[in-house]
This record gives sequence, C-alpha cells and structure tokens, in this order.
Amino acid sequence: MTEPAFDSARFRQVLGHFPTGVSVVAAVGEDGSPVGMAIGSFFSISLDPPLVGFCAGRGSSTWPKLRAAGRFCVSILGDDQEELSRRFASKEADKFAGLAWDRSPLGSPRLGGSLAWIDCETRDLHDGGDHEIVVGAVHDLAVTAEGHPLVFFRGGYSHIA
Ligand SMILES: Cc1cc2nc3c(=O)[nH]c(=O)nc-3n(C[C@H](O)[C@H](O)[C@H](O)COP(=O)(O)O)c2cc1C
Repeated sequence: MTEPAFDSARFRQVLGHFPTGVSVVAAVGEDGSPVGMAIGSFFSISLDPPLVGFCAGRGSSTWPKLRAAGRFCVSILGDDQEELSRRFASKEADKFAGLAWDRSPLGSPRLGGSLAWIDCETRDLHDGGDHEIVVGAVHDLAVTAEGHPLVFFRGGYSHIA
C-alpha cells in the first residue's frame, strides 16, 4: 500500500459528509447488567441468510462486553432521541439508569421509543483496522414507531425535514 496522502483530520472531514443513521447496540454484560453504545456504522448486509453489521472501535470499553455476550440488539433511534445518543456515546458508568427499556426475544436490551429493533447473534468478526467489523445473524426484528430517524452528518445531529 502507498502511504495515505492526507491526515486524520481530512479523513474525518470527508467521511463526515456521508450521513448515517444512529443506533444503539446493546447486550447483557457478564455481571447481568445492560451495556450499550451509540453506533453510526450499522448496515444491512444480506437477506438470505439475514445478516446485518456494524464496526466496533477497538478502543471502546463497551465493545469487549458486547463481544463477550455473543448477541446484541440494535435499537434504531428516532429524531427525538438525540439525548439518548449522547448518553450512549458517553463513558457514563450506567448508561441505562432511568431509561425505559425491555428485553428482545434473545434477551438483549431494547430501548423504548426507538423506531425499530433488530435482535442478533454475533456470527463473524473481521479485521477493520482500528475497528472490528461485526456480522450479526438476525433472529427477529420489527418496526415500533413511524417517526423520522436521527441523522448524524458533518459531526453533528441532523433531522430529515
Ligand atoms: C453518532 C455516533 C456514532 C457512533 N458510531 C460508532 C461506531 O459506529 N462504532 C464505534 O465503535 N463507536 C461509535 N461511536 C462512539 C461510541 O458510541 C462511543 O465511543 C462509546 O460508546 C463510548 O465509549 P465506551 O465504549 O468506551 O464506553 C459513535 C458515536 C456517535 C455520537
């Protein structure tokens, strides 16, 4: 590979022009408490078999707990859930304190008020540089609200008009 012709600020600036939705990926930790993180890299992969994915930062303290659980539920956030996104992107000890959530069919945490949920078992992990590319086998999923999605664009939250 040739050396990159740009610095990390340019990488972030350019890639920030690609808008993403915002989801929370959550699981039950080894001590039985819910754990989760805000994820913008969530993507749909395959219909047959049904697969989805996301990229988890190797520096995240939450990701090792999600990986150990071997399963996770993705809650897709609506545009009224910006505070929830900030909370799940933070380093707060108990991100679930005071929140409305229940359990998915596979037992992972599902956030109340979200647009949809996708319940998965971790199927494959691939190298993605400073991230791991996580492939999940979808066990069950549903739409739970018809609102507009929360969007992340150019380093800030955005709404679809
Ligand atoms: C809009 C948004 C999207 C994010 N997307 C990702 C992502 O795709 N992968 C990732 O590893 N972290 C992502 N993060 C960062 C994590 O949510 C955050 O660093 C992490 O949960 C907090 O650190 P901890 O895991 O050490 O507690 C995103 C943050 C925000 C605000």
